[in-house]
Amino acid sequence: MDGSLGTARSTKRDAAPDRGRPAGGFALFLKRWAANPLQMGSVVPSSSSLTRRIARLTTWGEDEIVVELGAGTGVVSRALLAAGLPPERLHVVEIVPEMAEHLRETLPGVRVVTGDAFTLPDLIPRHLHGRVGTAICGIPLVLLPLDQQRRFVQAVEAVSPGRGFLLYTYCITSPLPYRALDLSAKREAWTPLNLPPASVWRYVPR
Ligand SMILES: C[S@@+](CC[C@H](N)C(=O)[O-])C[C@H]1O[C@@H](n2cnc3c(N)ncnc32)[C@H](O)[C@@H]1O
Repeated sequence: MDGSLGTARSTKRDAAPDRGRPAGGFALFLKRWAANPLQMGSVVPSSSSLTRRIARLTTWGEDEIVVELGAGTGVVSRALLAAGLPPERLHVVEIVPEMAEHLRETLPGVRVVTGDAFTLPDLIPRHLHGRVGTAICGIPLVLLPLDQQRRFVQAVEAVSPGRGFLLYTYCITSPLPYRALDLSAKREAWTPLNLPPASVWRYVPR
């Protein structure tokens, strides 16, 4: 645990000393999009305008971690580190092995797991269950059927009971049918400076 991040939630401090090496990976992102557009959900990585907004909405307590699902080339991860999240408190899950390898190489100290976010309880060490400050979802959930969306909600709930998750999206309205999923929904940020313009939603179990 990092004792310097003393106070309770939202313990943002000065920029972290190591934000990882430059993201790069644009060609990798494009290649993966060409290989599986539905899994990627986007042609280009999120903009700095969007990733800064996500970082601002992300909180962690003294003994908590942040979980990022679908990290891609690590642009959101970098914004979190820049906001002061210690690398060892960031657990990222990425399903594409090549992208996970890129994350390991460029984000020293960050816990990178190659795996499917739908099996999240198996990917996060058990002693950290219930100690997730914020879970952030980059997976294109909007493209999935309701039963899979429900499975995702349950997977997050298992490691972060009652806390819900942030989801960034290009949809103008809620990308998830939140009532059917027993969630409350709030759009917490929007930026036109992303391709396409994007919002950040917070979903919490009702
Ligand atoms: C829209 S991209 C977001 C990438 C990056 N976070 C960004 O903001 O640019 C979606 C990412 O989710 C990953 N992904 C898709 N389904 C996944 C799953 N079930 N588990 C983990 N990662 C997944 C994709 O491989 C891709 O890297």
